[in-house]
Amino acid sequence: MSIGIGIIGAGGISQAHAKGYMQRPDARIVAVADIFPEKAKAAAANWGAKHAFGDYRELLALKEVDAVSVCTFNQAHCAPAVAALEAGKHVMVEKPMAATTAQAWQMVQAARKSGKLLMVEMKWRFMPEILAARRAIQQGELGRIYYAEAIGWQHRGIPGGTFIQQQTAGGGALMDNGVYTLDAVLNLLGHPRPLTVSGTADNTFGHSPDGKWDPAEFSVEDFGTAYVRLEGGITLFFAHAWAIDFDEQWQMRIAGQGGSVELRPFGPGPKLRLRRGGYGDLQDADPGPLPPGSIEVPYAVGQFVEAIVQGRPSPVPGDTFLYTNLIFDGLYESSRWGREVPISLPG
Ligand SMILES: NC(=O)c1ccc[n+]([C@@H]2O[C@H](COP(=O)([O-])OP(=O)(O)OC[C@H]3O[C@@H](n4cnc5c(N)ncnc54)[C@H](O)[C@@H]3O)[C@@H](O)[C@H]2O)c1
Repeated sequence: MSIGIGIIGAGGISQAHAKGYMQRPDARIVAVADIFPEKAKAAAANWGAKHAFGDYRELLALKEVDAVSVCTFNQAHCAPAVAALEAGKHVMVEKPMAATTAQAWQMVQAARKSGKLLMVEMKWRFMPEILAARRAIQQGELGRIYYAEAIGWQHRGIPGGTFIQQQTAGGGALMDNGVYTLDAVLNLLGHPRPLTVSGTADNTFGHSPDGKWDPAEFSVEDFGTAYVRLEGGITLFFAHAWAIDFDEQWQMRIAGQGGSVELRPFGPGPKLRLRRGGYGDLQDADPGPLPPGSIEVPYAVGQFVEAIVQGRPSPVPGDTFLYTNLIFDGLYESSRWGREVPISLPG
């Protein structure tokens, strides 16, 4: 069985999706759509796709398209994903799932109604160290968990183009790269419900005249923090900066009464550290053999194809991304009001 693939949005990340599909004998790219038709045409020629369109609705009308990758900027994830699900196609959508909770909720509802797969391309879900940490937490090795931390300090990482504009990206550093650590920690914790958030979102360097981007176009945050109360009495501290005058550091840490996990995917030191014990007998523990996995986008694309072909559920269901959008929405609102805000579930 070979499934027909449509790729919507032919920018930077679409190339990694195409690579993933082209590595598989059970998938073939049949169509590409981009609002710039010449981009769709060039990509289709590169990937051996028969069709190129300037409007994704034409791609969705093709019977031979079984599944799509949505590789557009964040504000344009929802409309094509919902239309694709309504047209009976499986959907893989780039991270973050959506620019707002309202959009994310529409996508989740469309997936539930269609019975088709909605998978978020969140490559960190397949990181072997994260899978090992999740296994340890699920086995109860940390005891009662009371604190979690999701931090990404990029030293100099402000992007340009559609990433720095509110109308295309919907958010800045927090949504673009903060979503990696935030989703990882929520996933490690088993997706506890967020109850309240107190946050700040700011831009410190966005309007600097000495960057590589156009400061006149900069309308998102480049720095943000949040203190989130999660159900079960867990406190989460979340922060991300595209640029801060610290050494580059990405870390996820979870503390329980019976031990802790610390993940630093890009170092320094071990990527995963597990400790077990009580106050007086705490010791480093062996996390055991790492499960198979990879943080490359083509690997996640392969998981999507396998799930479709084998009739399995979505490897990264849209439902599990709603809480990241709820936290982003609450964080921005809290920052505007200058106080903690409650988080209400949609629907
Ligand atoms: N997983 C990763 O490693 C990774 C890396 C980079 C970006 N991303 C994500 O991928 C998405 C796209 O990022 P990018 O770097 O490829 O951006 P990009 O700006 O290079 O490409 C986006 C493309 O989508 C097209 N587009 C916009 N609206 C469209 C629509 N309605 N129909 C068809 N095409 C449309 C644009 O014309 C553009 O070609 C973002 O959500 C981003 O967060 C993920």
